[in-house]
Parts: sequence; C-alpha cells; structure tokens
Amino acid sequence: MSRPAFSLGKDLVGLEDLSAEQIRSILDTAEPFKEVSERRIKKVPVLRGKTIVNLFMEPSTRTRISFEFAEKRLSADTVNIGATESSVVKGETLVDTARNLEAMRIDMVVIRHGSSGAAGFLADRIPSNVVNAGDGSHEHPTQALLDLLTIRDKLERIEGLKVCIVGDILHSRVARSNIFGLLKLGAEVGVCGPMTLLPLGIDALGVKVFRRVEEAIEWADVLNVLRLQLERMKGGFVPSLREYNRVYGVSTRRLEKAPRDLLVLHPGPMNRGVEIDSDVADGPQSVILKQVTNGVAVRMAVLYLLAGGVPEKAEAAKTGGGVE
Ligand code: CP
Repeated sequence: MSRPAFSLGKDLVGLEDLSAEQIRSILDTAEPFKEVSERRIKKVPVLRGKTIVNLFMEPSTRTRISFEFAEKRLSADTVNIGATESSVVKGETLVDTARNLEAMRIDMVVIRHGSSGAAGFLADRIPSNVVNAGDGSHEHPTQALLDLLTIRDKLERIEGLKVCIVGDILHSRVARSNIFGLLKLGAEVGVCGPMTLLPLGIDALGVKVFRRVEEAIEWADVLNVLRLQLERMKGGFVPSLREYNRVYGVSTRRLEKAPRDLLVLHPGPMNRGVEIDSDVADGPQSVILKQVTNGVAVRMAVLYLLAGGVPEKAEAAKTGGGVE
C-alpha cells in the first residue's frame, strides 16, 4: 500500500495542531531552500502567480521581513499591510478586512495580531491559506520551527536533548510553540523564570520547572532566552529590570559554571543587559543570528507546503517545477 500524500493542511496556526512527522517534514523541506538565500540572484519560481498578503497588526522586524523575503525569493506577489495604515483604524473588523482582500483574489494571508486566537479565527472564516506569524500569547509556530532547525543544525538532533526556556514564559507565544514542538520531537523541556512569569499549571504541559537559573544552566544542553514583554505587563511582575538581570540574567559568569558548553538561542528582540548579557549574545555559544538566517528557509518551506508542495519535490521545484 502506498503512503498517503503529505499534507500540512490549509493553515499553519500552531505546532500544537501538528504531528511530529509534519514538523520533521517542514524542517527537512527547509534544507533545500537554505541554498536559495546564498545565491547571487535569490529567486526561484516556486510560487510564481501566487499572491500573499502580510497583515501585521503588531510591530515586527524579523518575522515580517523574513516572510517577505521568503515570499519574494519564491517569486510570489506580496502586499504588506500594517494596523496603522489599514482601515482597521476606522473600525473595520479583522474578518471584513480579510474578506475584502479575498475579493481581490489572494492566495495566502500571513497574520500577526495582538489577540490570542486571531490566526485560527481568520483561518476558519476565509478560504485562503492562513499562516500565524504570532497571535497574542498563543503561538508563534514559525519562530519555534526556526529554533528547532537551528538546534538540529548545530547539535544534529532534537530527540533526547534538554532544552530550557528562560524568562517571561507567561506572555510568550514563542515559549508555547517551542514547548509543543520540542516535546513532539522527543526533547526534554524545562522552563525557568520568576513565579510571576510562569503560567499556573505549566508543568501539566510536561515541562520541568526551574526556579533558579543556575539549576537550569546545570541541567540543560540548550537555553532559549526570552525577553521580558514589558508591553504586555501592567506592572508588578518583577521588582526592577536590574533585579531581574541579577537573579535571572544569562551571563558568561553563569555559563562558565555549566558542566557542558550550552547552545544559546534568543528569538529577538533582545533586551541586552536584562535577560541576556552582550558577551553571551555576541559570544561563541550564541546562534541568535543563525536563527534569523534559518527563519527565511523555514518560512519558504511553510509557504511551499501550504501551497500544495511536497517535501520530496522541493529540490525539483526550485529549478522550475513550481507548485501546481
Ligand atoms: N522573533 C520575533 O518574532 O521577532 P519580531 O517581533 O521582530 O518579528
């Protein structure tokens, strides 16, 4: 009996919805797309004729620009809309905005939104493919995928690794997507931060909880350091940024006490001197810019697969096969 054809489904809303096989297939599909960004002419005809709208209702540097690069390098036609320059400021709803875009015959929407669930809400209401580029504190699936790819590149596996996510877990969609993805691929996952920044019942997700960053550093192979999301805090979560750095900051002094060389990730944007010191961020254990580079390949893979591509044909698609 032949294997069923691979499908990622219509949308990518979160890693909670994906199987381990689907996650591995996205990472494997990203591999051939890495090379496109190293070419002099960074363009392949994979998504020629497809129209993609990037609807970013919250600020973004890495995600927005790397989606746009991914789309352009796949030869899609792209349009960018931000909250302040759209008719949302005049009271138009998200669904009405999307329906108007649909009326102009688009194929995909990449959405970042401040409300948890916004991407899924839209995915259920429009026929275009929807990609979640971060929704409230729910999920940021492509960030977790690029984190997984970067860890796999450096350590040649995910299964069996101990990965600790340090920082503001409470407000973090990156933490949630990483937890789902890492556990599905067989890693052990820890979280570390002040009690005020750990969601109640987080251990029910199957993660180990560390109160002290020194213990997390002793346990882990990989640290994924998250920033304090000051814009989502209404005060009172930490006594001060200086105090947070003193107790939870990832510094060379702390890493030197680890029993092994840790790999250090950070999704950005960083608050240098708060959750991570500059000598770590710019040091030999950091793969922070490698994450950013991998973000383009991962997003190319996601767009290609949602458009109906299959992992085995990604290499051929780059040379003119495209997606039907
Ligand atoms: N990692 C991340 O989502 O960064 P941006 O907010 O700059 O997109």
